[in-house]
Amino acid sequence: MKARRPRGAGSVGHQRRTAGRRVLRWAVPLGLAVLLAGCAGDNLPQDFLAPEGPTARAQDRLWNIVFWVAVAVFVLVQTMLVVVLIRFRARPTDTQLPKQTHGNVKLEVVWTIIPALILAFIAVPTVRLIFELAAAPENPVEVRVVGKQYWWEFEYTGEEGQGVVTANELVIPINRPVRLSMESTGQADSDPLGVIHSFWVPKLAGKQDVVPGHTRHLTFMAEEAGVTYSGQCAEFCGLSHANMRMAVHAVEPAEFEAFIEEQATPADIPTSGSAARGAELFTERQCIGCHAINGYEGAAARVGPDLTHFAGREKFAGYMLDNDINEGAENISAWLKDPQVVKPGSQMPDLGLTDEDTADLVEFLRTLQ
Ligand code: CUA
Repeated sequence: MKARRPRGAGSVGHQRRTAGRRVLRWAVPLGLAVLLAGCAGDNLPQDFLAPEGPTARAQDRLWNIVFWVAVAVFVLVQTMLVVVLIRFRARPTDTQLPKQTHGNVKLEVVWTIIPALILAFIAVPTVRLIFELAAAPENPVEVRVVGKQYWWEFEYTGEEGQGVVTANELVIPINRPVRLSMESTGQADSDPLGVIHSFWVPKLAGKQDVVPGHTRHLTFMAEEAGVTYSGQCAEFCGLSHANMRMAVHAVEPAEFEAFIEEQATPADIPTSGSAARGAELFTERQCIGCHAINGYEGAAARVGPDLTHFAGREKFAGYMLDNDINEGAENISAWLKDPQVVKPGSQMPDLGLTDEDTADLVEFLRTLQ
């Protein structure tokens, strides 16, 4: 008769049970954390599962189809796996290896055809939506988007846009499609060495890569005025990739027209006080070599953001720093004094400004309403 292994502390079964408990000790809290993350609330600014506007909703419907097909496949496969693992596990009474097999044409054909059918099933709505979203909409707001390191330039093209150029904050009218034509050009338009960025405002549309040497299009629409949709660059593009953020402000059509009118107006260049001294420094310290200000003689370069109505923007430096009445001055000052600390890898140089120069430049920039 075969001697049975004692069921004691040193047995294989005991060791297995202890290891199992050890795995459970971290697997349970980890699993709970992942589950609870789903309860984080329904007011998340970049929640792509709460789509708004027709583009995001159509993409969400497609995502749901793929998701539930994947859930069905997952449940089926895992159930079969668990059943097989339990039913055919090694038992102490087993005296020989199970029957060894190699190849099964029927099974292989079946498990090739089923996934192919599933992919074909998913492909139909996917391809249809790709073409639908790629079609040019009627009467869109046309915006040229340039991804730079590390900020977004928005240029309202067409007659209605009046050549308005802004940075990081895209103002759009509601209930009208917005068609972006996106490029990556390096710092100046003449500089061909751009890097790949990805434009992503999760609640309004899926990601669209912005690739040097190509013009990519993206169409979306917002439906609720007064909402700010936050977004960010979604393709690693260098040191400050995480600081390349943006916002889409959805407004009533009349407010949009007023916005364009206001942005198209040249800046009032201050002529007295600290702000006027700052305006002089803008040329003396070479800011003018990179930044355009409509209304400021000679300031036309488009390496850095257009500053014509800089003070009217909510945030600056890749939509990262508050530009409001409370913190704006302090933030601009920190930015001018040490751009590389605020935004590593940025093309904004450290100009070695004195405290006085910095204060004057801040004053000047704050007048650009
Ligand atoms: Cu631009 Cu990441």
